[in-house]
Amino acid sequence: MAIEDVSKPTYKDKDILVAVKAASLNPIDYKLVQGKLKDMVPLNLPVTIGYDVSGVVVEKGAGVSDFEIGDEVYARVPQEQMGSVAEFVTVQSDLVAKKPENISFEQASGLPLTGLTAIQALEKVEIRENDRILIHAGSGGVGSFAIQYAKEKGAIVYTTTSTKNVDWVKALGADRVIDYTNEDYKEVANNLDIVFDTLGGDYTFDAFEIIKDGGRITTIVGPPDGETAKQMGMTDYKMPEKLSELIKEKSAIYKLTWMQPNAKQLNEIKTMVEDGAIKPIVDLIYPFEDGIDAYEYLATGKAKGKVIISLADLF
Ligand SMILES: NC(=O)c1ccc[n+]([C@@H]2O[C@H](COP(=O)([O-])OP(=O)(O)OC[C@H]3O[C@@H](n4cnc5c(N)ncnc54)[C@H](OP(=O)(O)O)[C@@H]3O)[C@@H](O)[C@H]2O)c1
Repeated sequence: MAIEDVSKPTYKDKDILVAVKAASLNPIDYKLVQGKLKDMVPLNLPVTIGYDVSGVVVEKGAGVSDFEIGDEVYARVPQEQMGSVAEFVTVQSDLVAKKPENISFEQASGLPLTGLTAIQALEKVEIRENDRILIHAGSGGVGSFAIQYAKEKGAIVYTTTSTKNVDWVKALGADRVIDYTNEDYKEVANNLDIVFDTLGGDYTFDAFEIIKDGGRITTIVGPPDGETAKQMGMTDYKMPEKLSELIKEKSAIYKLTWMQPNAKQLNEIKTMVEDGAIKPIVDLIYPFEDGIDAYEYLATGKAKGKVIISLADLF
């Protein structure tokens, strides 16, 4: 990774050009840098990274009527426009929403990718009132949003984290915070309606042990289910045999979510934030010139909520 001068991005008829005030980091960014997603997200290097942005509209295409110059906005930019860790980024205007008015640019930039992921993953398994759900990694970017969203939906929330995070994760509204360093989550949380798997590996398979018969598992890191694989264009995909067997044994619903940008849901997040139902959780804010350090910190897997790069004082 390096900080470089690049040309200002061009924009099309339906795009807006955003002067970036803040960009938040997500594990997908460093996974791309580490080459771990080569097959799923092919890139022509060098590229500018970053999907999450909040900033101000400074130019717009002739076909844009929903936004004016000067509007404060936030978005998860689509793959083709990736590059929010920069002075300017272009975004397809139908994927953008006005930023929540009661929070800073830094806080707002932390919401799109994690918020959309949590909403889409929980909607996929139709979360409803009184569902008993385990959300893994409640102190992560996705988990800290998902806890608040699940509580808003009336669910009973169990979550896992380590000792140092227990108190603040409980304050997000979780009913039972399980400290994975000294408790076995499978003993505390079982016979569940839903497991939200944000960890993958054995956690995906072990989720079947703790759901009730007919329970639901929603993953953002596990192997795709057949239907999602098809939607993702994986025509030759065959689900791992072990997974198919577990689904059958438990009559379970198992779904992978691969988050999609969505302005309607960003507007819902705006409303929930302005109503106080969702609080943005920011761990550290790095100035732009220390952006590479920010990625190294996120890649430790120990962030407490979101890691943000601020450009507010720069441009
Ligand atoms: N499919 C999609 O569309 C999609 C979208 C977003 C994210 N993701 C993926 O979902 C994963 C989570 O994303 P994120 O943004 O939430 O990551 P993150 O913010 O980097 O998660 C960090 C948190 O994970 C916790 N953690 C680590 N190991 C744990 C364990 N064994 N048990 C419980 N908590 C643990 C850490 O808490 P402690 O320090 O207390 O351990 C830390 O607070 C990433 O792999 C990401 O790539 C997928």
